[in-house]
Amino acid sequence: MRTIIEPFRVKTVEPIRSTTREQRVAALAAAGYNVFGLTSDDVLIDLLTDSGTGAMSSEQWSAMMRGDESYAGASSFRRFEAVVKELTGFEHIIPTHQGRAAEKILFTELVNAGDVVPNNTHFDTTRANVEHQGGIARDLIKPEHQALHVEAPFKGELDVAALEEVIAEHGRERVPLVTVTVTDNSGGGQPVSLANLREVRAVCDRHGLPLFLDAARFAENAWFIVKREEGQQDRHPRDVAREVFRLADGCWISLKKDGLGNIGGVLAMNDADLAERCRAMLILTEGFPTYGGLAGRDLDALAQGLTEVTEPDYLAYRVRTAEYLAELAWDAGVPTVRPPGGHAVYLDAKELLPHIPPHELPAQALACELYLTGGVRGVEIGTLMFGRPQPDGAPDSPARHELVRLALPRRTYTQSHVDYVGEVIADVAARAEELRGLRIVSQPRWLRHFTAQLEPLPG
Ligand code: F0G
Repeated sequence: MRTIIEPFRVKTVEPIRSTTREQRVAALAAAGYNVFGLTSDDVLIDLLTDSGTGAMSSEQWSAMMRGDESYAGASSFRRFEAVVKELTGFEHIIPTHQGRAAEKILFTELVNAGDVVPNNTHFDTTRANVEHQGGIARDLIKPEHQALHVEAPFKGELDVAALEEVIAEHGRERVPLVTVTVTDNSGGGQPVSLANLREVRAVCDRHGLPLFLDAARFAENAWFIVKREEGQQDRHPRDVAREVFRLADGCWISLKKDGLGNIGGVLAMNDADLAERCRAMLILTEGFPTYGGLAGRDLDALAQGLTEVTEPDYLAYRVRTAEYLAELAWDAGVPTVRPPGGHAVYLDAKELLPHIPPHELPAQALACELYLTGGVRGVEIGTLMFGRPQPDGAPDSPARHELVRLALPRRTYTQSHVDYVGEVIADVAARAEELRGLRIVSQPRWLRHFTAQLEPLPG
């Protein structure tokens, strides 16, 4: 059969609410033209993030009832620890309430002022946690993989030559660890090959540096390896994921993605001394080492989610959904980052709206119009997120790209929802030249895209 179906049937439904364009116009104005300010009741299809927004399986809900809420030594932790150990092979398993808590603990222990942390592309919270320690976060993507529309199987790969240069430039003692994000979320959800990870491992071995993975989307990455990397076609994605983890010395995982949970994270490593220091910090900020900021029932749901997420039927459906949505966008004349990532489609607003200059926020204009047209919420990744105000009222410094990310929550929407989103994109694209830019009315000093207030520019 040609159609890749959703590999599940529906047992519980959550109604979503249609609104009129008039209602959405009022809601968006009240939110200051910032989609983060919308209440979810006013959103029909919510593609803001794939983090913590997925549906749990009946087995996960059953596991929740098994949750052991003992403060110390809960059996839920033993079940969670066993699954994470089987998957990653790491000796020390430290639960946290989400991914950034693991980053905060790890970097507090490893990164000092002036240290340099290489990554393929740091996710925002990863970068922020490195910089909070006074460290320098270096993104090392190969130059040939930076073009948005060029097809390549593993555009998330870390540039090993650039890594060698960074180590030579700053000295080995200024590089406390090397990190690789799988898949590369901020780089468009692009995967990293096994071959590249082996090369990075070899560089780390030569210099005696620890390698840590930011493995939020490890299962999607494993699926891309099975599908795209030479010689990997006959393997089970779990087997590939297990090999990937075993190339590293440790990892942190936001379990709100491929943990198939609504909350949760984990920090894992082999170094016993580092683990002891991290656990001490965990007790200060998260909780006792057998629950780390989570309820016992969350740990049980995550143990089950980590078991389900590497199923080939699930991953085939998952990755095909993003690919299908990207095809609908291209058919409507809206370019996207190519190839589509595992978890999201990134619309190229710079190409679609050449009449709106970066400082008038073309990607934000597109995100707003997708909402006004069809109640679809995505997120701007462009000058609103990365631009900086300039002195004397000069236009904001532009971001490298002007993208709208449409992230797909796991197991949540059906193909007809995706078809609908495609129709909304096509409707907006047909009126592209009518779209106007926006002006920032007020903004906070840090992470302005979450709370900035905007207004549309006059037509
Ligand atoms: N690393 C990556 C690659 C991520 O994508 C995220 C979160 C984190 C770390 C932080 O994890 O949210 O559990 O604290 N990404 C979400 C997103 C928020 O929308 O892409 P967290």
